[in-house]
Amino acid sequence: MSVRREQPVKDNAGRTSRKLYIETYGCQMNVNDSEIVAAVMVQNGFELVEKPEMADLILVNTCSIRENAELRVRVRLRELGSLRKTNPDTRIGVIGCMAERLKEKLLEEDRSVDLVVGPDAYRDLPKLMWQVESGQKAVNVLLSEEETYADITPVRLDANKISAFVSIMRGCNNYCAYCVVPFTRGRERSRDPDTILREIEELASAGYREITLLGQNVDSYSWGKNGEVLTFSGLLARVASGFPEIRIRFSTSHPKDMGDDVLLTMAAYDNICKSIHLPVQSGSTRILSLMKRRYSREEYMQRIEAIRQILPDCSVSTDIIAGFCTETEEDHQQTLSLMQWVGYDYAFMFKYSERPGTFAARKYTDDVPEEIKIRRLNEIIALQSQLSYKSKQQDVDKIYEVLVEGRSRKSADEFVGRTSQNKVVVFPRGTSKPGDLVRVKIHGFTSATLLGNLI
Ligand code: SAH
Ligand code: SF4
Ligand code: F3S
Repeated sequence: MSVRREQPVKDNAGRTSRKLYIETYGCQMNVNDSEIVAAVMVQNGFELVEKPEMADLILVNTCSIRENAELRVRVRLRELGSLRKTNPDTRIGVIGCMAERLKEKLLEEDRSVDLVVGPDAYRDLPKLMWQVESGQKAVNVLLSEEETYADITPVRLDANKISAFVSIMRGCNNYCAYCVVPFTRGRERSRDPDTILREIEELASAGYREITLLGQNVDSYSWGKNGEVLTFSGLLARVASGFPEIRIRFSTSHPKDMGDDVLLTMAAYDNICKSIHLPVQSGSTRILSLMKRRYSREEYMQRIEAIRQILPDCSVSTDIIAGFCTETEEDHQQTLSLMQWVGYDYAFMFKYSERPGTFAARKYTDDVPEEIKIRRLNEIIALQSQLSYKSKQQDVDKIYEVLVEGRSRKSADEFVGRTSQNKVVVFPRGTSKPGDLVRVKIHGFTSATLLGNLI
């Protein structure tokens, strides 16, 4: 790892070590960013601690995707701010998407915040912390067109040591009308594939068995010099052939960009998991067009047909937004009928939340009344729970290869793991150990997991 060392931070007592606590909100990208932040800070003399009460510096890695996500963080910041009554020297920093969206405003709104750092400025954190220690407030929210933290080996903060995230790109150029991400994360840029492979190599040597390649739109990954361009399917093939012992997942695919090349590469390698997250957002072409998703209902269906044909055992999950601007009952019915047609295995479902500065906030009216949004969302959730039930029911009596992650929440005698299709399975542990790939026959299911036995 080659993180530049900033000046060592010393307090009045001459200590150079500092205790850092990081709390993470939002998507998988943010989880991985916190690991990058941890790496930068550890290289600069910080030590990670597990409780905010123990920390000299608390960093809250934040999400702006919906208003509720921001409200949660604000409540938490107030709680953390009250820790200062007992630990007056504790510093609090806001990093991530809210830092980028709100910038200096965060310092004005909440006096306990000392530090505001956006997603492309994490290398600057040690220096900014130094500034904070000298009694100033510090802000860096510059976005970059190049930063991918390619050379930084994330410090893994997860407990299981089996499965890890690897970012392959940052930012997003899509500007979907509802979405704040292009504003908080900046321009899309891809990471040097050699550094991606090196990171996976290190994970493999450390005993990791599964990696998830991350990007807001992985299908537009592109790394090229001299006319030779490595696309996402090319990268997938390099990773899959280079690490046959490692399971590979990726997220998120975009329906307008996910070509057959990606599906064919998935089919060609057993170690690429047969699971695709393909956010649809709405089943109505009119709404999709207002959302600037750049595909129609029919084009989306055509992508699903390609998945069914090329990868017959692939699971499909999605994201859905209920109550986008001007959505009628007819549009909503189209979302329900498309869900029914696809038969999603899993879905993340949201109520539309207007985000300041987005195209929708500037040009459309958020005109679906709250109670109608809630009712439609509830209908979507009810339908999805039927579809998830059906999906699990179809797994009964089948045998799946399961990567063992660790003990189940309920009992030390049971392990939990995932199938290639990303379904969670609980089974009596027998002689298996975390990290093993075992064969499990499914005999039943609960609302959240499949139940099986080792064979
Ligand atoms: N890059 C991914 C997802 C990013 S955000 C993609 O393009 O699909 C994750 C999900 O949050 C989105 O898929 C969308 O369903 C939801 N989302 C984003 N902005 C939202 C908003 N303003 N209101 C409600 N849901 C939103
Ligand atoms: Fe947001 Fe659209 Fe980019 Fe996804 S693709 S992050 S929804 S702008
Ligand atoms: Fe949230 Fe930022 Fe991720 S807004 S969903 S943390 S990219």
